[in-house]
Amino acid sequence: MALKHQKVALIGDGAVGSSYAFAMMQQGIAEEFVIIDIVKDRTEGDALDLEDAQVFTAPKNIYSGDYKDCKDADLVVITAGAPQKPGETRLDLVNKNVKILSSIVKPVVDSGFDGIFLVAANPVDVLTYATQKLSGFPKEKVVGSGTSLDTTRFQVAVGKKLGVNPADVHAYIMGEHGDSEFAAIDEAEVGSRPLLDVAKDAGVSKDDLLKLEQETRDKAYTIINKKGATFYGVATALMRISRAILRDENSVLPIGAPMNGEYGLNDIYIGSPAVVNASGVAKVLEVPLSADEAKKMAASAETLKETAKKGMD
Ligand code: LAC
Repeated sequence: MALKHQKVALIGDGAVGSSYAFAMMQQGIAEEFVIIDIVKDRTEGDALDLEDAQVFTAPKNIYSGDYKDCKDADLVVITAGAPQKPGETRLDLVNKNVKILSSIVKPVVDSGFDGIFLVAANPVDVLTYATQKLSGFPKEKVVGSGTSLDTTRFQVAVGKKLGVNPADVHAYIMGEHGDSEFAAIDEAEVGSRPLLDVAKDAGVSKDDLLKLEQETRDKAYTIINKKGATFYGVATALMRISRAILRDENSVLPIGAPMNGEYGLNDIYIGSPAVVNASGVAKVLEVPLSADEAKKMAASAETLKETAKKGMD
């Protein structure tokens, strides 16, 4: 049986979108890839530049298009939006980027698109929520990049500290993709041992781990202050989530997921591990948070709800 032809529509061809397109090309994911942005020279130039890479990776029909090309896409990825400037928080972007999002979601839905939305523009949890509301799509068909990037940042920091491969640090950053995010340290593991025990053996205290949590929270600001923007990390996280959706992987990833009572939350998208497959968010895997971490999750959710109210009223 021939493998299903897979098509991705990328909306937003800035640094994040372009890096995502490159990551998808490098990994040979999706046979068709349309790039949509208001700056046509950029999308046409990127498509022509990227198509040359397929000889070394995998055949791909990559082209510049517009909203009508979303009709038969399996996945629409939204990176369009103003990025953070030095000193700006992600939440500061809400009014500007909800407005941009409103001009995107309707034409995508009007094209007849019936696939999965993957949202990356910031503040991503609020924009994921707004995409679901604006599209009227079932909640599980709208996925946010959530704390997927933050989690890799924490894994890298802990891996460096303990001398283990970051991929073997099974720890999640949860909550807002932003300043109120937190690390679920009490439930984390390295290999099949509690992270706290492995850290203790290495002379690393819980306070040291909380310092790494803060380093993770601040990492985007650190990068932005040095190079003006972040894009490779988030683009790779978007590629990973896209692969789980397009290949129906049932992968457990810390995405921006819709809550239906998990952590006592409803009517919100927030960073939590969830099973991701062709249906989008197949199942939220609620982490049994300690009392302290449950409070952090509730506080983060409160911040997001207030921001959503401010940005969507
Ligand atoms: C960051 C952007 C994607 O955290 O919010 O790098």
